[in-house]
Amino acid sequence: MSMGVSGQAWLILVVLVLGTTCEAQLSSTFYDNTCPKALPTIRKVIRKAVSKERRMAASLIRLHFHDCFVHGCDASILLDDSSAFQSEKTARPNENSVRGYNVIDQAKAKVEKICPGVVSCADILAVAARDASFSLGRRDSTAAYKDIANSDLPSFRVSLQVLISRFNTKGLSPRDMVALSGSHTIGQAQCFTFRDRIYNNSNGDIDVGFAATRQRTCPLASSPTNDEKLAPLELVTPNSFDNNYFKNLIRKKGLLPSDQVLYSGGSTDDIVVEYSKHSATFKSDFASAMIKMGDIQPLIGSAGIVRRICSAI
Ligand code: HEM
Repeated sequence: MSMGVSGQAWLILVVLVLGTTCEAQLSSTFYDNTCPKALPTIRKVIRKAVSKERRMAASLIRLHFHDCFVHGCDASILLDDSSAFQSEKTARPNENSVRGYNVIDQAKAKVEKICPGVVSCADILAVAARDASFSLGRRDSTAAYKDIANSDLPSFRVSLQVLISRFNTKGLSPRDMVALSGSHTIGQAQCFTFRDRIYNNSNGDIDVGFAATRQRTCPLASSPTNDEKLAPLELVTPNSFDNNYFKNLIRKKGLLPSDQVLYSGGSTDDIVVEYSKHSATFKSDFASAMIKMGDIQPLIGSAGIVRRICSAI
C-alpha cells in the first residue's frame, strides 16, 4: 500500500516476501493463469479507497487480523447472518468497530466481472491488507463463527498473559504479537476503548500530560456520541508506518490498555525497547509476522469454496 501510510514499510514487506519461500500450498503465482489481472484490479480499488480516506489502510489491516484469528483466514468475517449461522460482524470485538467491508465487496465485484468464481474473498482480504502478490490460494469458508470471534479475538482489557496465550493459540509468538501490535502506529480508536485508562491513573502507568490531552476529546461521561469519539492510536506520526508506537509505550503514552501492557514490567518490555531503538528490526519482524498471521489455518485445495459475493454463500 503506497497510499497515506508511508510507502517504506510496504516496500520492505514486498522485498522480504519475494525472498521468502511460501509455506503450505499458498503461492504467489496462484492466479497467474486463472486470473492474471486479479491483483492489479484489487489494488486499484484499494488505492482509490485509501486515497479517499487514509484511515482505510489501517481498517483493512485490522479486518484481515479479525478474519485470521477466527477459524483461520477464510473470509468468514465477511458473511452476513443466514439461517445456518450468525454473522461475525456482530460479535463484540467487531460490531460498530471493524470497518472496510464495502471496500472488499467493491474489489470482489470488479474481480468477478473479469474472472467469475475464481478469486476468493479470503485472498482479496489478504491482498488488501498487505498489498503484495504472495501466498495466495486461500479459499472461503462456508460458515461464519460468531462464538469463536467472541472468544478468540483479544479484548483491549486483558492482561499480558492472556494476550500472549491468545496469540500462542494461533501459532504466533510473543515477539510476533508485539510486532503485529505495531499496526497501532496507524489508525484510530474510539473513546470507549481507552476511557478507563485516561481517567484512572491509580497505578501511574499513563503519562499525565498525555492523559489530559486525550481527555479533551474523550469525555468521562459515557453516551453513544461520546463513546465513539476517535483518537489516533499513535500520537506523534499517526499516518506513517514507523516505530513511534514503541517509543510512546516507553513514555507511558500507549492509548489502549492492551498497548501499554506490552511495556509494563513484563516479559515483552525488552522487545518493545528493541523495536523502539531499531526501526528496521521492527519492520522486518512485522513483515514476517504478517505472513505468519495470513497463513493461519487456510482452506486450500478443495476445502471451502470461492464465494461469488463475499457476504453470502
Ligand atoms: C494485541 C491485541 C490487540 C488488541 C486488544 C487490539 C485492539 C484494538 C482496538 C480496541 C482498536 C480500536 C477499535 C475501535 O475503537 O473501534 C484497534 C484498532 C486497530 N487495530 Fe488492533 N488490537 C490488537 C492487535 C492488533 C493486530 C495484531 C493488528 C494487525 C495486525 C491490529 C490492527 C489494528 C489497526 C490497524 C487498528 C486501527 C483500525 C482503524 O483505524 O479502523 N491490532 N485494535
